[in-house]
Amino acid sequence: MSTTDYAPPAERERWGSRLGLILAMAGNAVGLGNFLRFPNQAVQNGQGAFMVAYFVSLLLLGIPLMWMEWGIGRRGGHFGFSTCPGMFQSLTRAKWVKYAGAIGVVMPLLIVIYYVYIESWTLGYAVQSATGQLTGEDPGAHFTNYLGGDGGFLGRESLQGSWPAYTFFLVTMVVNLWVLSRGLSKGIEIIAKIGMPVLLLCAVALVARVLTLPDVEGRTALDGLAIYWNPSQWKALFDNGLANDLFNKGSAAIWLAAAGQIFFTLSVGSGAINTYASYLTRDDDIALTGLATVSTNEFCEVVLGGTLAIPAAYVFTGMDGVMSASSGNMGLAFITMPSVFEQTPIFGGEAGAGSIAILGTLWFGLLFVAGITSSLALSQPTMAFLQDTMGLTRRKAAMVVGLIILLFVQPVILMGGVLDEIDYWAGTFGLVLFSTVEVILFMWVFGSDRAWKEIHHGSDIRIPRLFKFLMTWVTPFVLLAMLFLWGRDEMLPILTFEAAPGGEYTETTRTGAYVGRTLMLALFAFFAILVGVAAKRGRFSAVEDLPAEEAS
Ligand code: ALA
Repeated sequence: MSTTDYAPPAERERWGSRLGLILAMAGNAVGLGNFLRFPNQAVQNGQGAFMVAYFVSLLLLGIPLMWMEWGIGRRGGHFGFSTCPGMFQSLTRAKWVKYAGAIGVVMPLLIVIYYVYIESWTLGYAVQSATGQLTGEDPGAHFTNYLGGDGGFLGRESLQGSWPAYTFFLVTMVVNLWVLSRGLSKGIEIIAKIGMPVLLLCAVALVARVLTLPDVEGRTALDGLAIYWNPSQWKALFDNGLANDLFNKGSAAIWLAAAGQIFFTLSVGSGAINTYASYLTRDDDIALTGLATVSTNEFCEVVLGGTLAIPAAYVFTGMDGVMSASSGNMGLAFITMPSVFEQTPIFGGEAGAGSIAILGTLWFGLLFVAGITSSLALSQPTMAFLQDTMGLTRRKAAMVVGLIILLFVQPVILMGGVLDEIDYWAGTFGLVLFSTVEVILFMWVFGSDRAWKEIHHGSDIRIPRLFKFLMTWVTPFVLLAMLFLWGRDEMLPILTFEAAPGGEYTETTRTGAYVGRTLMLALFAFFAILVGVAAKRGRFSAVEDLPAEEAS
């Protein structure tokens, strides 16, 4: 049997149009990572030096992985699989790979559990900006209160005051599930077609306002922009001592942070891109469209995301303010930005309540749109797995996804430390680990010649041959080196809960980490069992011998 003899199941969903696919893929990649995570990471990890490491990572990891995941995904889709267990099984005869593929279902689901919660803050803050509730209160106190304090809502004497966070979370979740239950072309694609232009309009309006800010005590927005682009910092990359002096970080830390940002922002290494790509038809282009996804994401991240929060914060708070705002994960977006908006005049008028209402709604609205197009993509692997592999209807699959999110988000909302623990394993380390599995399977086990042919099938461009070399040797080498560094420096203290990722635990956050890790293991075990059940029912048998037969 050859790949073309196998008839894919007739009822699989497809993208409605190429434009819809491109916008949905862009929406998948462009998310909170572009506007919240990127500025924090860049400023905290060497600024100009970070940007060099960032672009190198984009070239050596991001772009190659994007093409590989499109290749694996479209091939899996051809055999009727929308998720990694089946996709991986169609690459090799080794039976265990479908269980490794289960990571590509669980990981995006784990990310989405906390991602939807953060997305719901942006909705809450958009509504509160528009209705004047962000005016007049200290933004730091408002944010702490919104989240229930440092220890989460359980750290409080009563749950009173938790309702805005809860309500906005429920609304956000229901909207996500509703779109998912409408399916690909009538749900996800429509949201992307509306959302991406809205996102661009909001971002361009805000960028225009930031770049025309009047200087404050001699500080201009362009000086703020220069924080990213100052070549004098580049040498920190190659000099550990200097990097330590300058940024209190080793140069390896700068490289790891930059690579981590590339994974997160492009959504590679989670399984989410593979699933979207599985809805292509066999002859659809992936080389050019994959590159278009990367370019759109980078434009939104480096050009738009880079020009918003940091330059605006710099004008009003200076370098010290920027450093302290970006040191926490969310302070820049939820505390500094509201305070910046309150001081920003618009339409030649006075700064104050009016400006925070307009600029705050634009900023948090933009974040919400960026968030929802990504959370839909992160949920889709579980939706698809439940439909394709377990035979559930779309509506039932959406209900199961909703139930899992609802159960697992409770500790995330209530306890400090759970969110960070899940983010570390699923949103950071796991992406590197899963990418390593993917690249070895595709380029080495399936074989680089076949992988290269697979990516070029139906392609609108020819990828420079240099990338074949990068994908076969350099990308896996860099990934393995990252895992080695992790094993050497972090593995033991992290596995034994001795050190928290990037810092120290408090008593509360250590308990949160125990809870988070237990839940993650339980969820993985659950999906691994489901894969086993599906395998027993013969769901994967059509592709189990495929790679060997193809090769003969
Ligand atoms: N790629 C998505 C983001 O940047 C997950 O937020």
